[in-house]
Amino acid sequence: MYFSCGLIWRHNMHNKFKYTTAIARGIAKSLPAEAQRMDHTAEFVSYEKAKSQLQSYVDILQEKLGLKVIQLPADDALPDCAFVEDVAVVIDDTALITKPGHVNRIGEMKEMESCLKSLRMNVVNMAEIDPFATVDGGDVLFTGEEIFVGVGNRSNMAGYKVICDTFPSYAVHAVEVEDALHLKTACSLAKPGVIMISDETPEIQKMIKSLQAVATSNYRYIHVQGNAIGSNCLFIDSEKLGPVTVHPSSKAFPSIKSSYDAIGGVTLIECDISELSKVDGALSCCFVLLSI
Ligand code: GLY
Repeated sequence: MYFSCGLIWRHNMHNKFKYTTAIARGIAKSLPAEAQRMDHTAEFVSYEKAKSQLQSYVDILQEKLGLKVIQLPADDALPDCAFVEDVAVVIDDTALITKPGHVNRIGEMKEMESCLKSLRMNVVNMAEIDPFATVDGGDVLFTGEEIFVGVGNRSNMAGYKVICDTFPSYAVHAVEVEDALHLKTACSLAKPGVIMISDETPEIQKMIKSLQAVATSNYRYIHVQGNAIGSNCLFIDSEKLGPVTVHPSSKAFPSIKSSYDAIGGVTLIECDISELSKVDGALSCCFVLLSI
């Protein structure tokens, strides 16, 4: 069963992704041993390599795209704290501080909330609205026109309802997540009107079909072969380079290049965060983006 709420409203999509500022957080020393992961047989994770890959990613946003990057300090008591996307959903000038769906991640919101308040965002705290609601930002796909919320693994229906109430000018659709950490483990916005999608497993194919069935706008869907996380990219309409899609490195995911080449009309930048992907970190996980 699927749920949708909110208005179908024509938004000016192109203004929605003109981000000027990104919030990132350092890598906890505890990440290699203690960060959550779906595949517990995954190989050794190097703290140094993860740190240097995140720094290279920060450099892309800061140097190439001209964004201001605010780097919050890591907290070694919070192994997954680098994945800031999960603790805040920012759309227009409203920032919803979420409550992540894994108990080990609950302490991560405080630092983000203080930062967003200091930036004078309109901050809403999910836990104060409904203590039973959970949402990981990785489950929230915002296309500029509507919002899809992956429900079933980390995020629940109470969390979906808080998203509906917090962003009332957008249609919000619940999509069942199965066999994936998050909705955006297997799909992401490549640019307004274009969504990258994975078909790695039958469960992921079902999830993507559900998303397509509830979507109220017409999108071009581009398949990405291989590991689902290869479909996770980051779109920014930057002041310096115009529309840019930062996508996984084709060295780490050899089958993806032709899919990203098919987007058209964007500058493509490859970014290797393969060390973070061993603990299910994807490109969108590493930043909260703001237009301020
Ligand atoms: N390692 C990311 C997460 O499981 O939340």
